[in-house]
Amino acid sequence: MNILKLNAISQKAERILDGYDLSTECENPVGILVRSFNMNEYDLPSSVIAVARAGAGVNNIPHADYAKKGVCVFNTPGANANAVKELVVASLLLASRNLYSAMNWAQTLTCDVAKQVEKGKSKFSGTEILGKTICVLGLGAIGRKVAIATNALGMKVVGYDPYLTENARAEIPFATVYPDLKEAIENADFVTLHMPYVPSTKNLISQSVINEMKDGVILVNCARGELVNVDDVKTALDNGKMRAYVVDFPTEECLNSDGIIATPHLGASTEEAEDNCAIMASEELKDYLENGNIINSVNMPNLTVEKSKSHRTSVISVEGTPLPVDGVSATKNGITYTVIDHDDILPEIYGNGIIKVRKIY
Ligand code: MLT
Repeated sequence: MNILKLNAISQKAERILDGYDLSTECENPVGILVRSFNMNEYDLPSSVIAVARAGAGVNNIPHADYAKKGVCVFNTPGANANAVKELVVASLLLASRNLYSAMNWAQTLTCDVAKQVEKGKSKFSGTEILGKTICVLGLGAIGRKVAIATNALGMKVVGYDPYLTENARAEIPFATVYPDLKEAIENADFVTLHMPYVPSTKNLISQSVINEMKDGVILVNCARGELVNVDDVKTALDNGKMRAYVVDFPTEECLNSDGIIATPHLGASTEEAEDNCAIMASEELKDYLENGNIINSVNMPNLTVEKSKSHRTSVISVEGTPLPVDGVSATKNGITYTVIDHDDILPEIYGNGIIKVRKIY
């Protein structure tokens, strides 16, 4: 069976998907491994039954449409969280110590460098992060790691996340979590973004929200560019409301602009994170293809079932659609996934509301 890679994916994927043909061009792929390739305009081959994203964000995949076609989409939550956390810590220091401008200036020095360094360094004098307040917007796997790391560095951590679970909250007892975004940001020296890009979060950080921030705030965005209205950020940088904007998703308007520090989507670009994501994505894909189990899907209900009979058939259907046989089911966002283990031949499963029936073994 063929697996199509729409991006370069760590070699670790090959080991897990042993027995499959993985390549960047192939006929009739049954699954797709993808990183940042934009699938929104992509003509999905009809042979594909699953897409595994080696990363957390899934805004490059039209997963709601894929659900209607019975294509299961997976992501790898947490697999690159440490890498992103480390870039966030670097971003806080880059901005607060004026390192980016200082390093560029140092490269311009031509002679008597040691003397010029001592003479000119004062204009890059910065501030420390110790004792400052950081607001973490979005307390998922990455946000919580950022909270823990910055707390360990002596920062006061506040946050906001309307979807925070009790277990996740228990990981960050030191943080003050506000029920309201504006309350969370108003006293923060640093604001760091860790939420997904979905229609409701587009331009979340725009003028009205920036106005609620503390004067001289530093904004860090290692999540998605679309969360921030760059024009409003530029106005805030020009009038001194904001001290710096560090962005890992730069667009043209972010470049050569005073106060904006742009990194080229490096958050998850470490050997370790690329391996972790490839391993998790491949394992999810393999378990789905071979056993019909769903773990970490963003568009289908998660369901893992121990094999109990000689044959297994899976059914993806619209919630509420009656099936002629019983199985183990789970439902999410109007889609029901059912695993039927059986020794006998099943009656045919078809009709309104049945999206996909798959004989797995
Ligand atoms: C993510 O969403 O986890 C990252 O953007 C992954 C990546 O860099 O490919």
